[in-house]
Amino acid sequence: MGLRYSDLTNRLNVQTSDVWGVHTEAQRRAAAGEDIIMLSLGDPDFPTPREITDKLVQQVHQHRTHYSPAGGEPSFLQALAELETSVEKRPFLPENFTIFPGGTAALTGVMNCILSPGDEIIIPEPMYIGYHSILQGIGAKLISVPLDVENDFVLDIESIRQAVTPATRAILINTPGNPAGNVMTKASLAELAAVTREMDLWLICDEVYSLFTYEEDHVSLLLAAENLENVIVIDSLSKSHAMSGWRIGWAVASEEMTAALHAYCGATFFGCSQFIQDAAAFALSFNAPHILNMRREYRERRDYVVNAIDRMNGLSCYQPKAGMFVMVDTSQVADDGASFAQRMLEAAGVSLIPGAGFGDNTKGYVRMSLTQPADVLEVALGRIAKII
Ligand SMILES: Cc1ncc(COP(=O)(O)O)c(C=O)c1O
Repeated sequence: MGLRYSDLTNRLNVQTSDVWGVHTEAQRRAAAGEDIIMLSLGDPDFPTPREITDKLVQQVHQHRTHYSPAGGEPSFLQALAELETSVEKRPFLPENFTIFPGGTAALTGVMNCILSPGDEIIIPEPMYIGYHSILQGIGAKLISVPLDVENDFVLDIESIRQAVTPATRAILINTPGNPAGNVMTKASLAELAAVTREMDLWLICDEVYSLFTYEEDHVSLLLAAENLENVIVIDSLSKSHAMSGWRIGWAVASEEMTAALHAYCGATFFGCSQFIQDAAAFALSFNAPHILNMRREYRERRDYVVNAIDRMNGLSCYQPKAGMFVMVDTSQVADDGASFAQRMLEAAGVSLIPGAGFGDNTKGYVRMSLTQPADVLEVALGRIAKII
């Protein structure tokens, strides 16, 4: 047969790393009845708060089940503008927002609007695994710069400046960060915004973990940047409201960039569900104890895991300042994170992600998720301690 696939399909068909290998094997073993503790995913284990699901059902019954404007429902865009105006202390308009089916789709839309095949984008590593396939699809080149693994995963802005070439179009940062739970300060966000503006580069900031900071409040690039000209922020309700399956997120950008994003939405998925956007708008204003409880629970789990690892011979970890993961240094007990993760799956029935999937500088690490209740984490850590 002479049927052919597009360049995009062919690019997406290239396997760049086997980062999900242990997780996939863990799922297979669990399905076959083995007792496996999954600490390899970043999907909240909490239910979506009942008030939000009630709102969704109510809106379905109100027949909010028709087409929505491609870039978002006016009422949801307005709710986002009001929220950001109050949080970031600068005025936002509905024309600064674009609604997508999840943060991943928002990132994909933004990348498609600013990158062409062969363009370069700089991303600090370790980085979220999902960025690779988005860029692979576009055919853009990912240039990584290392975060300081020995020093709280801090970003050295000079290393970004040095990585810029004539082909560079954008920098993508992630604060709070997945996998390391590192957070950027207002000063370094402001500096990076100024540096990128001066160099005519886009600065994209993925802030999907913004509600789960444990010692300090999250600082958004929207607050730190002097203006929004070259700045784009991505957010979603997947983590903050335990709504990963709802697929709802957004991009915040200048009015000019937002017009481009709305055109992209019109040309691709043609708008998100009305009832989901209505319930999402409600979720934004919903400051119920559930959200604070989730944060408290993640923080307690983090403290528990960090203390337990500290007491374990051979393992160490950096205390994440935010997010739902702990990066564990396995270099004293294993050749690398991949062999450690494989051994823990086989001998302890615990599924972890090898650090190499997030970048070369975390090859000696594994990522442990905090998306299991404390008693399950306790069993997992007990099994790990026994093996090492
Ligand atoms: C850093 C980061 N960005 C984006 C996403 C994607 O989130 P969403 O469910 O909104 O697509 C994730 C999901 O794990 C993530 O960790």
